[in-house]
Amino acid sequence: MCGIVGYVGKRPVVDILIRGLRALEYRGYDSAGIAIFKDRKIEIRKSEGRLENVEKLLREKINFFSDSTCGIGHTRWATHGKPTSQNAHPHKTGHIVLVHNGIIENYIEIKRELMSRGHLPLSETDSELFGFLVLEEMEKGFNLVDSVRKSFLQLKGQSSVVVISEREPGVIVGVRNGSPLVVALDPEGGVILASDAQPLIPYNSEVIFLEHGDLIIGTAEGLKIFDLETGSAVVRPVVRLDWTLEKLDKGRFPHYMLKEIFEQPEVLVETLNGILDRTQSQPYAFSEQPGVKILDQAIEFIFVACGTSWHAALLGKYWIERRAQVSVSVELASEFRYCQPVLRPGVVVVGISQSGETADTLAVLREMRRKGISTLGISNVRGSSISREADAVFYTFAGPEIGVAATKTFTAQMLVLYLISGYLSNQRKVKNLDASSETFAGVIKLPQLLSESLQPNSKMMKQIYNTAMSLTKVRGFFFIGRGYSFPMALEGALKLKEIAYEYAEGYAAGELKHGPIAMIDKGMVVIVLAPRDSWRDKTVSNLEEVKARGAIIVGVGDSDDEDLKMLCDYWIPIAAENRSIDSDLLPFFLAPVVQLLSYYRAVLKGTDVDKPRNLAKSVTVE
Ligand code: AGP
Ligand code: GLU
Repeated sequence: MCGIVGYVGKRPVVDILIRGLRALEYRGYDSAGIAIFKDRKIEIRKSEGRLENVEKLLREKINFFSDSTCGIGHTRWATHGKPTSQNAHPHKTGHIVLVHNGIIENYIEIKRELMSRGHLPLSETDSELFGFLVLEEMEKGFNLVDSVRKSFLQLKGQSSVVVISEREPGVIVGVRNGSPLVVALDPEGGVILASDAQPLIPYNSEVIFLEHGDLIIGTAEGLKIFDLETGSAVVRPVVRLDWTLEKLDKGRFPHYMLKEIFEQPEVLVETLNGILDRTQSQPYAFSEQPGVKILDQAIEFIFVACGTSWHAALLGKYWIERRAQVSVSVELASEFRYCQPVLRPGVVVVGISQSGETADTLAVLREMRRKGISTLGISNVRGSSISREADAVFYTFAGPEIGVAATKTFTAQMLVLYLISGYLSNQRKVKNLDASSETFAGVIKLPQLLSESLQPNSKMMKQIYNTAMSLTKVRGFFFIGRGYSFPMALEGALKLKEIAYEYAEGYAAGELKHGPIAMIDKGMVVIVLAPRDSWRDKTVSNLEEVKARGAIIVGVGDSDDEDLKMLCDYWIPIAAENRSIDSDLLPFFLAPVVQLLSYYRAVLKGTDVDKPRNLAKSVTVE
C-alpha cells in the first residue's frame, strides 16, 4: 500500500515532500522517510512510527536542505519486514536510492542470487533488493533510466518504484506497474509525482494518471513517459481535477472522519448531479455514459467488493432485486477470485471500490475481462485502476476521503446503486411503484432531510453522542437488523472495530438464535436498527429476545416510534421529527448513526480516528 512522493524542480523540496507525505499518510503510516539531494550526495532521514518523527529529525539541522530541490519520500505499510527504521524507505544501495510500493513476489529468488554475488541487504524488505539490481546494471555502464528499466523487468508482482542516483543528480525515474502513480508538471519548472493526486493539487490540478507499465523521467526541464517493455515514448491524457484545497483540509473539524460524515448531504447532491440527466422529465434518467448500455444489456449482476464497499453491494442487491427484479449476487472479492464461479450469458460483474485500487476487486475485474465477461466499476477516484480497467465506470462524487474509515464514499456508493435500481426498474417497465416519480421526488429531497438530521442540535445528534459517551464497562457490541438494516448492522460493527477497536459483530437479527445469542449477558450492548419498514416488527421480536437475556439495548428507529423507544435503554431517533421517509431510503439515515456512534466511541477511547492502527485506506496488496 504505502505512499510515494517525489519532486524535482526549482522549489525547496523538503516542504513539498513532507506535505505530500502528510496527504498520503492514509495509505500507510507505520514508518516514513525522505531522501534529498544535498549538493551531489543523497541524504536520508527516516524513522519508524509517524511522519512527525521524520520532521523531528529534520529540525535537528534546520535549513540544512534549504537549497535542495530534488528528493523522494515514502510512508510505509509494511508487507515484508517489521515497521522499523531500518526497514523504512527510502533504501540506499551504493549511489542508488529508492522508494517502493507493492510486493516483489520473486524476492526470495532475487535475494538468493544477489547474495550469491556478494551483496548484503541491510533491511528485511523486498524493496531494498531492487536497488542492488539497479546498481549492478549501472556498474555495467548503463544510465539510470536504462538500469531501472532492465531491473524492473526482472520483478514479478505489482510494484511501483521511484529511484534517484548520486551519479545523476536532478533526475527522478519512476515506474508504475500496479500501484498507482500520478504526475504533474510544476508550472515553475519541474515535476511532482505521488501515489495519488492530492500532493499534486497545490502545484497543478492538471495531472496525468500513469498506466501500468509506464516509465517516467522527471527533471527540472520536464517530464518524459515511456513504455517499460518497449522503451518507446508514450503520450498520456492530462486530466483536470476539480478538487479544491479546501476539500483536502479538516477545516473546523477535529478529524477528517467527522468532516466527511457531515459532508454526506453535499455528496448526495454531487452524486445525483453527476449521474443523472436532470433535464429529463422521466425519473431516474441517467446522463449519457458508457455504463448505461451495459446496464441495459445485463441479465444478472455479480457484485464484488471488500469491506465497506461490500456492505454497499449488499444494499444494492436488496434494492435492485426488489425494485427492478434483476438477480444480483454479492461476493467478497478476495474469495471470488479464487473460486470457480458459474458465469451465465448476460452476467455483468460490477467491482465496487471507493479507491478503485483494491487489489482483490481489481483482480476479479481483470479475470472477468479476460474471460470476455462484461464489467462495470463503481469508484470514487477518477483515473483509478478499476475505473480504467472495467468496461465502463459509474463514479461516485464524494470528493477526496482522507479518513481511513469509509463514510461519505459509502453513502455515495449506496446512492449510485439505488439510482441503478430505479433506472433498471423504469427501463424494464417493472410493474411496481418503486421507481415512480413519487419515490424519485423522495430521492431528490434526501440531501435536505439528511442535512436536517445532521444539525448539531437535532435529537438524533444529541442522542448519538449521549449514548456513545454513556456506555461504559461494556464487553462488546452486537449490531442487528433485518432487510436494509442488515448490511447497515455489518457496517456499524466494522466501523466500531476499525476506529474504536471494540469487539463488535453485525448480524441479521433473525440469525441471533442460531448461535450468537449465547454471547448475550448484561455486559453486551445490542444496537437494534429497526426503522419503520416491512421488517421492523420482526426485528422488535428479536430485540425482546436479547433484552430478556440482560443485554443493554440501544434502539435506532423512527422518531415517533414510541413502542420501540419504550423497549430500549438508549434511544436514537433517525431523521428529523415528523418527516416521513420512503422505507427504501432509510439506510441513508442509518449510515450517519452507525458512523457517528463509532466516531464518538473512538474519541472516548482516544484512538487515532483518522489513522486507525494496522489499517491503510488503499489496500493494494492481497
Ligand atoms: C472501510 O472503512 C475500510 N477502510 C475498508 O473496509 C474498505 O472499505 C475496503 O478496504 C474496500 O476499499 P475500497 O472501497 O477502496 O475497495
Ligand atoms: N513491500 C514493501 C515493504 O514492505 C512496500 C510495502 C507497501 O507497498 O505497502 O516495505
